[in-house]
Amino acid sequence: MQIASNIVILPPVKLVRMHVYTHRPQISAAVANIKKKGLKIGFVPTMGALHRGHASLFDFAQKNCDVVVVSIFVNPTQFNNPQDLETYPRDLQADLAFLEGINPEILVFAPGTTTIYGANVKSLDFDFAGLDSVMEGAFRPGHFEGVATVLKYLFEIVQPDLAFFGEKDYQQLQIIKRLVELEKLPVEIIGCPISRHEDGLAESSRNQRLSKQHREAAPFIYKTLMQAKALFNDKSTSEVEAFVENEFKDHALFNLEYFEIANASSLAHASEKKENEHYRAFIAAFADDVRLIDNIALN
Ligand code: PAJ
Repeated sequence: MQIASNIVILPPVKLVRMHVYTHRPQISAAVANIKKKGLKIGFVPTMGALHRGHASLFDFAQKNCDVVVVSIFVNPTQFNNPQDLETYPRDLQADLAFLEGINPEILVFAPGTTTIYGANVKSLDFDFAGLDSVMEGAFRPGHFEGVATVLKYLFEIVQPDLAFFGEKDYQQLQIIKRLVELEKLPVEIIGCPISRHEDGLAESSRNQRLSKQHREAAPFIYKTLMQAKALFNDKSTSEVEAFVENEFKDHALFNLEYFEIANASSLAHASEKKENEHYRAFIAAFADDVRLIDNIALN
């Protein structure tokens, strides 16, 4: 066969020897087999584009369970912006290579949309009693119903004993705990701490879209959260909020979408501090068109 001289021949794609399930009957048979042996399933749902933040969850799952299942599924119903869904990074081969480097025993569930939703690619209705109407929920209408819908379906398929989620998406974590209560799902939800780059920036698949200048400046977000935490001891919540808004007003590279101090379990905006309550600060900011979120425990 003649090969045109302008064709670059790539080295063969590395063959991955992991168990990758794409359809229900296969994963259900694997799950049934694990259950029969009495082994404990730890589940880490993801949308792929895996990074060290995800890896920290795989680590928690490995330490606490016999078998780890990771799902990779870019869930259409949680995207309120169609362009965001279209441009979401998808590279299954790279994700599998990443997982294999961590532990080739991890089971991967990488379904197509029809496997999860059939012909009905729609969110179910849930009553999250206001948890979904603030912060991320206010700026991304329908997002959390989409998240809850896909997780309800994934939990039904994977039947995990424990499922691991990052505090990076703290509001999501609270909503998932509520979902499990509402639907009486037989799974324990474990929240895991935010994994950060050395300079403090929370790990995220979006970080790779930052310009060099924005990436270098991005630790500003976590630094401001830490300053807010230090101020929280002596200042009122509105004073802390005003401080952060002011820091961003003066910043040339980042636009603040919201900064909010909220009760750590109800997520209600904290207009005053009460004894014995836990509070958290939440932030969303744009670096050009890249939207970054972060949060911190205040007490
Ligand atoms: P995704 O953004 O891929 O994140 C998967 C899990 O990784 C989430 O629990 C998220 O909180 C966690 N995570 C991401 N960055 C992290 C970091 N720096 N430190 C610790 N944990 C981190 O969140 C989703 O996918 C989806 O909404 C999903 C739950 C899979 C439903 O579609």
